[in-house]
Amino acid sequence: MTDSAAPAVSRFEIHDAAPAISSVVRTSKATLLSGARAAEIRAILERRGAIVFPEIHLTDEEQIAFTHTLGTFAHEDGEGADGKDAVYPITMDESINPIASYLKGAFFWHIDGTMSDKPILASIMSARRIAPTGGETEFCNTYAAWDELPEEDQRQLVGLKVAHAVWRSQLYWHPEPSFDLLQRWMARGKNILPLVWKHRSGRRSLVLGATALQVVGMDIDASEALLVRLRDWATQPRFVYRHTWKVGDMVIWDNTGTMHRALAYDHACGRLMHRTKLEGEESFA
Ligand SMILES: [Fe+2]
Repeated sequence: MTDSAAPAVSRFEIHDAAPAISSVVRTSKATLLSGARAAEIRAILERRGAIVFPEIHLTDEEQIAFTHTLGTFAHEDGEGADGKDAVYPITMDESINPIASYLKGAFFWHIDGTMSDKPILASIMSARRIAPTGGETEFCNTYAAWDELPEEDQRQLVGLKVAHAVWRSQLYWHPEPSFDLLQRWMARGKNILPLVWKHRSGRRSLVLGATALQVVGMDIDASEALLVRLRDWATQPRFVYRHTWKVGDMVIWDNTGTMHRALAYDHACGRLMHRTKLEGEESFA
């Protein structure tokens, strides 16, 4: 390594983006790709829920390489069979992503991978093309939301289980599907998850989001009231960071301690994000 490259490798400045969630890290591509700060990035991620790397402009290959420095690269369903790692296009443009309409569930607060018992650890998303207005991404800290619940609430929630289903989240954007479409959504199955996730670290977080269908064993009205009350609680501004994208920004978020959603934008505007993911390392239960 040359002397002139050395300062770029060592630059690593951190500040909070919002009080309860998200840090901004200003660093260089070389630092990220070296892996030298990988353990620190993992620690910030767990502590702060999300990390913004402003206008870092990683290429797809660099984003894949960076993802590998942090953990096990997770392939999308049906991809990676050829052994190649790839970025996944998040867009409403069906010429780029043929199943773009499924992504419309992302406009509502959710956790990725609630159909799995071991959800992905984190997502990493880079902005390739942004919306002229709207299209921000919001993150809320579900550890902080749990920590600040009154003790009485906490006592009542521990031990509750919630059925999650993909079809529930799809109904948010398409409330009157054909029977055929509903059946295809339902074929994705259901998953029973704890409402309160006790992590290996001993910390607890709330497991909520658009796939949350019903609290097991609870009357539908009481269940809906509880799920909406908790979502409303967890997504208060004090637990939220809203990221307004610039081209080249990269954000990584801890999918096990946050929920996220995209804000509305013109679906014809060409907004395009490239996402990679880290394999889950811990089961919900
Ligand atoms: Fe998502």
